[in-house]
Amino acid sequence: MTSKRFDRRSAGTMAICIGGIAVLLAGCNANVEKQPVPPTFAPVVSVNALMVTWVDNASHVLWDIEKEGFAPKNEADWLELEDHATQLAAAGSLIQLGGTGQADPGWVRQIGWKTNAEAMIAAALADLSAAKSRNLEAVIKANGDLVASCEGCHKAFKPELPSEGISHQRPHSESHEATR
Ligand code: HEC
Repeated sequence: MTSKRFDRRSAGTMAICIGGIAVLLAGCNANVEKQPVPPTFAPVVSVNALMVTWVDNASHVLWDIEKEGFAPKNEADWLELEDHATQLAAAGSLIQLGGTGQADPGWVRQIGWKTNAEAMIAAALADLSAAKSRNLEAVIKANGDLVASCEGCHKAFKPELPSEGISHQRPHSESHEATR
């Protein structure tokens, strides 16, 4: 009797266990099914607009520290540099998507587009880590790599005049005008 009751109870426990495992597995499965399919992003602005409103603005905040009296003086100044270096690194990924401009899809498909964008990301990340360690010399060095990354891509891809006529309007330091 005792052993029978025991058997029944253990059978019940077993059933609960199996049920539990099934629920767990179902849960795992459901999670797998819910994994997002890699999204296909559609850019909403042109490369020209992205350059002027984001890339160029963020870069000039970094380059400006080389101007007389513009070196970061306090914590807020350093954080400002960190923010803009981060923006620039993020923009580097977005550049690789291309944009809504007529020539943009063609540029993205060309060899060299990605490597140039990655060079910009690398320089921006170097700026970020230099800013985080509050190292002015290192920021200036990374700034140099940043200019080189802009120029590298512009030499290969940038038309004489902005394709959509969007140019940066604000006056910036002379030394980096070459990036345009
Ligand atoms: C992966 C390639 C690539 C990189 C990297 C790149 N650019 Fe550009 N940039 C372009 C292209 C292409 C255009 C032209 C877009 C157009 O006219 O439609 C452009 C246009 C511009 C323009 C507007 C056009 C003008 O003549 O005023 C500015 C400003 C600009 N870039 C700044 C920068 C800066 C600053 C950097 C570096 C921090 C940079 N770009 C890095 C490809 C790049």
